[in-house]
Amino acid sequence: MKNVKLLLVLATVTLTAVSCGSKKEAPKEEAPKMLVLYYSQTGNTKAVAEEIATKLGADIEEITMVNPYDTGFQATIDRCLQDRERGIIPDIQPVKANIADYDIIFLGFPVWFGTYAPPVQKFLLGADLSGKKIVPFCTFGSGGLESSVKDLEQAEPNAEVMPGYGVRAARMAAMPKEVDQFLKANGYLEGEFVQLEEFPAQHDVSEEEAAIFDAAVDGYPMLHAKAKTVATRTLPDGMEYLFTAEDLPRENSPKMPPAGELQVYVTVVNGQAPVFTKVIR
Ligand SMILES: Cc1cc2nc3c(=O)[nH]c(=O)nc-3n(C[C@H](O)[C@H](O)[C@H](O)COP(=O)(O)O)c2cc1C
Repeated sequence: MKNVKLLLVLATVTLTAVSCGSKKEAPKEEAPKMLVLYYSQTGNTKAVAEEIATKLGADIEEITMVNPYDTGFQATIDRCLQDRERGIIPDIQPVKANIADYDIIFLGFPVWFGTYAPPVQKFLLGADLSGKKIVPFCTFGSGGLESSVKDLEQAEPNAEVMPGYGVRAARMAAMPKEVDQFLKANGYLEGEFVQLEEFPAQHDVSEEEAAIFDAAVDGYPMLHAKAKTVATRTLPDGMEYLFTAEDLPRENSPKMPPAGELQVYVTVVNGQAPVFTKVIR
């Protein structure tokens, strides 16, 4: 019985010592609170949002509209153009999350007309993101992350707009791996990532490189361009090309004048056909 009492006393002393010891440790920096907030009309951006939230264990919320768009592409374009003419930015349902509780907001959107879709514009008009870090992510037909980021920086001058992630709707299969690398490379997730070398200087395209460009953009109606110069770098599983191309007039859209010079990123994964990953206009 004496031994049992002694053991109990020792255990109490040890427990006290352990809890005292942990109290003396330098206070750990609290993990930043992260919210994934997104609008998605047809599901692509939603898939990216869910991938990010799952990987980070972050809270997630969808921005929804009071009067949602018709899901048809042309009907959506028509309503957007009509809204624009009338100066209307459509109403959204109140966001449930208390933005003030979060340090980092992953803000997701489809690129519409070169920038974030109107429901995200509406959210930004009503939210106070001062002092927050905003990590933009988006999906697009051909590109628009860079132009969206410029608009975001203008709309939120008191927030810190961080490097973002964007993926073509046609390349959603590549998204989970790219999101993983993006989160690791930017320090949101621990783990190894591939640090790509910088592109070297551009050189005039060879016939072979011009053929790679043409194969990559072939069949994409909104991209009618001719490659001029290129730089290449190696990827773990292939090659990446950064083309500078001249936008050519589109016969079927005479109202859309050529955009001038474009930057077109193309990857060729070993054994696969070339695909473009984004266009910067
Ligand atoms: C009204 C409208 C405008 C669009 N404008 C662009 C654009 O300017 N650039 C682009 O690359 N893709 C554009 N797209 C394509 C969408 O960005 C793309 O399909 C996106 O993946 C849709 O995301 P979601 O599935 O999350 O709605 C547009 C689509 C719609 C409906």
